[in-house]
This record gives sequence, C-alpha cells and structure tokens, in this order.
Amino acid sequence: MEPVILDVDPGHDDAVAMMMACGAPDLDLLAVTTVAGNVRLEKTTRNALRVLSLIERPDVPVAAGAAAPLRRPLYTAENIHGESGLGGPDIPEPTFEPDERGAVELISDILREAPEPVTLIPVGPLTNIAMLLREHPDITPRISRISLMGGSTNLGNTTPAAEFNVYVDPEAAREVFESGLPITMCGLNVTHQAGAGAAERERLRSSGRFGGVVAELLEFFASTYKGVFGFDAPPLHDPVAVAAVMRPDLLTTRPMRVDVECDSDLTRGETVCDFYGVTGLPPNAEVGVGLDHDGFFELLYDSLSRL
Ligand code: BDR
Ligand code: CA
Repeated sequence: MEPVILDVDPGHDDAVAMMMACGAPDLDLLAVTTVAGNVRLEKTTRNALRVLSLIERPDVPVAAGAAAPLRRPLYTAENIHGESGLGGPDIPEPTFEPDERGAVELISDILREAPEPVTLIPVGPLTNIAMLLREHPDITPRISRISLMGGSTNLGNTTPAAEFNVYVDPEAAREVFESGLPITMCGLNVTHQAGAGAAERERLRSSGRFGGVVAELLEFFASTYKGVFGFDAPPLHDPVAVAAVMRPDLLTTRPMRVDVECDSDLTRGETVCDFYGVTGLPPNAEVGVGLDHDGFFELLYDSLSRL
C-alpha cells in the first residue's frame, strides 16, 4: 500500500479525487487536509468532512490549513462549484470534527511517524505545502514525491495564461516547484483529456454505492462547465493526480524545468514549461503531456466500485 496525503479544496473534482483515493486498493490515505481555493476554508473543510462522512470514512483525519494565499487575497470559483463548493446533491452534515492540529502540523506529524516516505497529492492552491516546507525544512526526506494538479503547458482556465490553483497562490506554487522534491505535474493540458461526457457520467452512476452522488455532482459540474467554457465533458482534473500515483503508466510525462510567473499582471500564475530545454536549466518536474483517457476512467470506475 502506498501511503498518501491528499490536500484539497472541494470542489466537485476534489470530492471525486477523495472518493477515488478511498476506494483505491493500493493507496493508504493517511489524511485529508484542506485549503482555501474553490470556496473559502470553512466551506472546503466542511465539504471534505461531509464527503468522508458520506462514504463512511471518519477514520481519515481531516485538518484545516491556510485560509488565504501566502501574499494575496483569496480568489474563489463559485461560478464553477456553486456557493457551497459542492453544488448539486444533498450531502448530509459531517459526522466528525476536524483535527485540532491544523493541516501543516498534522502533515508534519504523520510524515515523521510514518515508517516510509509518504506521497503528497495537492489538488488545490499550494499554500499548505509551501507552508509545510517553510515551517519544517527538515521534512523533505519524509516526502516520497508530490503528484499535483495545477498549471498547464499551454492554455489557462482562469486567465488565458493561468490555471486556477496556480493563479490563486503563485508564490506558493513557485516555492513548491523550487523545493527540489520529485514533482509530477498534472496540468490542464492533461486533465482536459479526462473529460466526463454523458457516457462516462452514466457509467459512474452505476459505479458502487455512491455512484448516484458522483453522478449528481457531475451533472452540476457539467452544467457550469458548459456555461463557462462551452465544454460538453467537464474535466475530472483532480482525480488525474490520484491516478498518476496509482498507475503512473496512464500518464505520459517529460522532465522539464517549470517556472511560475508571480509578477506580471498579464500572465500571473502561468507555469512556464521549458518543453525543449532551451534554458539549459535542470528539470524540476515530470510534466504530464498525455493521458490514457479510457484507462483513467476504468481505474476510476473500479476505485469507486470498491467504496
Ligand atoms: C483546478 O481548479 C479547481 O477549480 C479544480 O478543483 C481543480 O483543482 C482546475 O483548474
Ligand atoms: Ca481542486
């Protein structure tokens, strides 16, 4: 079993990523930590607790992290995820409380106690991970690698240049990319290949006990994605970062230098990917360049069926 910690801002695709990680037969989900992003921190934390309560996993500790980016006001995405962050299904209130230590201390304690290095899967703004590395600089040997959803080798979804998670906290993303840790970047260029069209949503509906909730989540997500981006198949961004840990063969990657733009008003949050190695700088990430769409969905159906 591969030990992992998920850092989330639920968020529809975050919720599916959490369910996938809980159902994954080869992952040991040690904790879920929350960050402000798609909606404010109180809501992302409540949503993470509600999802884990629904799927009867109150044994997974949840801790709240950063309420705002390192240096900027929070920018949220209610236009995509609804006012609650999980628009659509009626998900009951949580049955358990968050861990009082908070995200950074919980992650640090778990990493120090774990018998082997742990993989971090951040799928929201990278604020908590940057704070962890700042406050616990000796912790890096305890981190096996980071599989993150964020950035893009090409187009953005929040500005023409920037993907949401990196746009929200570019300084945190820069610190993580410059940490020297092994990083797999699942950016929009690959997560847009994980579109859940009508056929996939129907199949998800019959995938396990919670397929109905997943389908309702994705009906809402599909309608906002259609309205905002014109997509027929809303991308399951965050589950791609989980899949990349479960089945690395599903994601084709290339080693690249990734730098994050933090200053320009026009391109703030852009992940500048040195595809051709023109800078001569050493690579700092394995960047996803291709995804096996069918293999990804089979893995998702299978994981959800096990819940
Ligand atoms: C990312 O932004 C959020 O809205 C999603 O949950 C995902 O993590 C996609 O850009
Ligand atoms: Ca997310």
